[in-house]
Amino acid sequence: MTPLIAGNWKMNGTLADARSLAQEVLGGAQAGGFSCELLVCPPFVHLSAVGGALGEGAVRLGGQDCHTAAGGAHTGDVSATMLRDLGCGYVIVGHSERRADHGEDNALVRAKAEAALAAGLVPIVCVGETLDERIAGQALAVIGRQLKGSVPVGMAAERLVVAYEPVWAIGTGRTATPGDVAEVHAEVRRVLGGLVGESAAQVRILYGGSVKPDNAAELLAQENVNGALVGGASLKAADFLAIAGACS
Ligand code: 13P
Repeated sequence: MTPLIAGNWKMNGTLADARSLAQEVLGGAQAGGFSCELLVCPPFVHLSAVGGALGEGAVRLGGQDCHTAAGGAHTGDVSATMLRDLGCGYVIVGHSERRADHGEDNALVRAKAEAALAAGLVPIVCVGETLDERIAGQALAVIGRQLKGSVPVGMAAERLVVAYEPVWAIGTGRTATPGDVAEVHAEVRRVLGGLVGESAAQVRILYGGSVKPDNAAELLAQENVNGALVGGASLKAADFLAIAGACS
């Protein structure tokens, strides 16, 4: 399985920043000979420019969210079909910031993932527990519920990516321990087995939450960790490329 290193640029930067970041990442990827797939997910308004800078090259393009419908009267929204039209291959759905800021629940996340699949995109379905849930010993139960509610049923698993992002590790500089990550990723794989059968073995499971160059190698070495979803560190090309270089 080829690991996936995905940069979630969130709501950061100017158009010029996005262009130059894309160019730097592409340059590094072309020079680097990495053993992973590289993906960047800029804000919607920068997708077109970043797609132009990346061309058909070594770095893939993705969206940070999509609507459930292919088109229509949905002011301010962007459809998976539109993302595909701009050259995206992936879209993040159910990020904890969307779940928290926009009240997205599992059913909506599943509908978005289904819309992504219908448009020919690979959905990156995000799950993760809050600190209170972890302290209460509920992390695995919460993640299991999120997966069962958010993952489209009856789909080809090679067209699915899951990201485990503990909410308390996002943007905080705190990462889950490698042992905790391995435990959760094993559980994600087990739950996926019940949802997509044997092809669960093919699903790439990414870890996200304060992944940096200095912790990437240890996290990526854990069993069932098939890549990373990187926030802050993906805004610096050197850091993002160093994380990609940590893939064995
Ligand atoms: P940070 O890497 O900034 O913690 O963000 C992780 C994340 O939310 C990626 O989607």
